[in-house]
Amino acid sequence: MIKVKIIGAGSIGNHLAQAARRMGWSVFVVDANEAALKRMRDDIYPSRYGKWDESIKLFTSDEAPKGGFDLICIGTPPNVRSLLALDALKEKPKILQLEKPLSFPFDENLKKFLTAYKKQKFVKVVLGYDHAVAKSIDRVAGLLKEKTIGDVSTLDVEFREHWQGIFKAHPWLKGPQDTYLGYWKKGGGASGEHSHALHLWQYLAKISGLGKWRKVSSTFKVEKLGKAEYDSLAAFQFETEKGKVGRVIQDVVTYPTRKWARLQGEKGFIEWICGGSPEGDIVKFSGNDGKINEEIFAKKRPDDFYAEMLHIDKILKKQVRAESSPLSLESGVEVMKVIEASWKNLGKQGIKI
Ligand SMILES: NC(=O)c1ccc[n+]([C@@H]2O[C@H](COP(=O)([O-])OP(=O)(O)OC[C@H]3O[C@@H](n4cnc5c(N)ncnc54)[C@H](O)[C@@H]3O)[C@@H](O)[C@H]2O)c1
Repeated sequence: MIKVKIIGAGSIGNHLAQAARRMGWSVFVVDANEAALKRMRDDIYPSRYGKWDESIKLFTSDEAPKGGFDLICIGTPPNVRSLLALDALKEKPKILQLEKPLSFPFDENLKKFLTAYKKQKFVKVVLGYDHAVAKSIDRVAGLLKEKTIGDVSTLDVEFREHWQGIFKAHPWLKGPQDTYLGYWKKGGGASGEHSHALHLWQYLAKISGLGKWRKVSSTFKVEKLGKAEYDSLAAFQFETEKGKVGRVIQDVVTYPTRKWARLQGEKGFIEWICGGSPEGDIVKFSGNDGKINEEIFAKKRPDDFYAEMLHIDKILKKQVRAESSPLSLESGVEVMKVIEASWKNLGKQGIKI
């Protein structure tokens, strides 16, 4: 049976554990904080998924089993991810899944991790940008492959979501100042936390022929709250290697939530609305005939992580290469490059990525 170790028993740790159990995999969860393990068992897991799954084994970091895992997931805050990833690499799992964002801006340990990763061939790395492997995004990719909208001229992606939802799920936190979320230097703020949008943009730009991003102009709304400092809104404009232009907006102030992408082609458009209907995601498109089609991809949030595990399973079975997966390590590194370039050059136009 596939053996999975998940580091971090918080919100994402619960999702990943449940998704891995749904695959029938054997799950071990590790957290530095004993209270987090208790909260997972007694509160988060049963309230989200109905009841606690007795087969999940829980460990504090000092007791954590090492070695022999097929998959290790690092679902901790971004500011401790690189060091944990370096340790996990030594355990030689077949796949190392690193949550989003990969890291925090200017993280020296990320460089060490990337060097160690390149020196070996065994461990494959994927990122936790689950939306990129959702059925609805697969449909968008299929439409692009069929050239339904002809050559693509521009792409917009928005992940705009008030972070009250995150704080409701973490009632022990008083606000952003109590967690990495309130500190851009720890990988928080809208640019880090909602980096699903940056990730989707680079993925859709690649598969739609817009090409790789080359230049970015960013505008951030920076907030200060005691010691906390974060961007509540991050707007990015891109120019690609092919001279195409597009846009990303991420914020932690919008409600109701808007998670959306739109591709304009010479013959029509494709629009993706995550959670756009009570049943799930919507994909709208029109091609040459001008008729607007609307398809619904039924899902609940836990299904996104199940889709991610199904994708990881394909990599384990060598049906998909980690390097060419939408969740590739390179895609996570690219997102970090944009976030770093933006913080380094706030307010400047056309920064080389
Ligand atoms: N892919 C997604 O859609 C998605 C969804 C939610 C969160 N996330 C990401 O997952 C990460 C964690 O978010 P969260 O909401 O689960 O946070 P959380 O605070 O709920 O959980 C993080 C857990 O990590 C533990 N931890 C911290 N340092 C540790 C260490 N050194 N060793 C072991 N455990 C450690 C903490 O005790 C805590 O229980 C963030 O980067 C977030 O952006 C991704």
